[in-house]
Amino acid sequence: MDLKKIMEAGLQAIESADVLETLNDVRIEFLSKKGALTKAMGQMKDLSNEEKPLFGKRVNEVKEALETALKAKVATLEALKLKEDMQRDAIDVTLPGTKFVMGAQNPLVLIQREIETFFQEMGYKVVEGDEVELDLYNFERANIPHDHPAREMQDTFYIDEHTLLRTHTTAIQTRALEAYAPSVPVKVICPGKVYRRDDDDATHSHQFVQVEGLVVGHGITLADLKGTLSLFAKRMFGETRVIRFRPSYFQFTEPSVEVDVSCHICDGKGCNVCKHTGWIEILGAGMVHPQVLRDAGYEDPKLTGFAFGAGAERIAMLKYGIEDIRSFYINDKRFIEQFKRYE
Ligand code: DAH
Repeated sequence: MDLKKIMEAGLQAIESADVLETLNDVRIEFLSKKGALTKAMGQMKDLSNEEKPLFGKRVNEVKEALETALKAKVATLEALKLKEDMQRDAIDVTLPGTKFVMGAQNPLVLIQREIETFFQEMGYKVVEGDEVELDLYNFERANIPHDHPAREMQDTFYIDEHTLLRTHTTAIQTRALEAYAPSVPVKVICPGKVYRRDDDDATHSHQFVQVEGLVVGHGITLADLKGTLSLFAKRMFGETRVIRFRPSYFQFTEPSVEVDVSCHICDGKGCNVCKHTGWIEILGAGMVHPQVLRDAGYEDPKLTGFAFGAGAERIAMLKYGIEDIRSFYINDKRFIEQFKRYE
């Protein structure tokens, strides 16, 4: 093939190539060691000495022309391919994305955490127990013997004669005392679910959450209890709240008190929430009964302690203005999501 034809054929092949792979074939066909140009060089030996340099120059010109055309075409095809790739892989940033819904904490969990944190800051340890409990720890060790009528106050789910679903977190208290005895001080906060046979309505639930507090040591008095609960009430319901004690009766405390907090809605003036008394009952408390301490293994008669038990639902209902206790348990997302702002 003469040089002119090689050049024309090469340029033509480059021109008509529409993918990069074809261009590579063209390069091999015309410009490689076994390509058309190299073969054409073979004619050199038949030429005269004057013709040789001219021919060589001509070969170089053809080679350069083909290489330049090839390079330009490679650039064109690469640009085209990039454009196509970009079009194919394009992301429409205006399309709506996948939404991830963040869960929210049940207000009951929030209250429980808040109570735990408050007492932990004062050096209490959080202690938990089992919801399936022995009669021994739920009743006997709380100074409520078998035939005691007080058992009827707490309608119990019995599993068998000795086993039940705990009716109060006082069961955690009696276990904690046994575990600590005879050492002091004891400073624990015991949150947990408790169960009672009750018909569910706006203010009753067969399952609810209690938080028990317990302190045992030397020289612990009712004044310590009052000071502690006073701070607690302020933390939960506002700095200006005050508390009062009313005499009460629990088998496991002596003396026993019912604790009221001044109404955070009307500031004690009287409203629907406090039933126009200015006070709201929030928990039961007292000095740990000496019998409870003895049964747990504390022999030193000088040791004293205080305890209290609060219902988490009641505190949450008062604090957040929730009217139906069942709201905590029916898992209506619209209810729970309202509490995101308190997390
Ligand atoms: N266990 C009592 C109840 O469920 C609450 C309670 C009252 C706990 C007085 C205490 C306490 O620790 O001192 O009704």
